[in-house]
Amino acid sequence: MIHQLLAVLWIYLPAYVANAAPVVLGGGRPLDGGATWVDGKPLLGSHKTIRGCAVGMLAGALVGVAQGWPTVGVVQGVGAILGDLMSSFVKRRLDLEPGASAPLLDQLDFIVVAALLSQPLTKASHQDLATIILLTVPIHYLANFFSWLFKVKDRPW
Ligand code: CTP
Ligand code: MG
Repeated sequence: MIHQLLAVLWIYLPAYVANAAPVVLGGGRPLDGGATWVDGKPLLGSHKTIRGCAVGMLAGALVGVAQGWPTVGVVQGVGAILGDLMSSFVKRRLDLEPGASAPLLDQLDFIVVAALLSQPLTKASHQDLATIILLTVPIHYLANFFSWLFKVKDRPW
């Protein structure tokens, strides 16, 4: 059981690291350059930065290299960042401020896109996909809580 859970986490390690890296190493100029969408609200918002996106994709790739499947690392790194950007886009449409909580969307954005995009490479089963999605919700809450506790993030979500 534990072995199976760890095996699934191993498959998605590039996505996890790609998602976490921007929180620690991101910041600076926003990716959307302050642009607004047709609704007049920010396209992505100030929390999605150029450096954060670059660092996340690079981190995913590096983990994949270390694991011996560089292509999976690249695809999951790009997928994780894309998923995170997509959820920011949706949050801005819903009038949520950058950093505001959007339960499930905030937790699952990166893993859903990374897992689906990398599936042809990882050959993950439906059960693997279901497992990682279910595991990600509690892991994300725990990780964010500890990041907040240790002052890496300024909010506990
Ligand atoms: N971050 C970044 N670049 C990214 C993603 C994240 O620089 N592409 C950094 C930012 O400093 C951001 C922090 O990581 O404030 C937390 O990211 P996240 O929780 O994904 O975003 P939110 O603050 O919740 O913003 P949003 O409402 O747009 O999801
Ligand atoms: Mg997010």
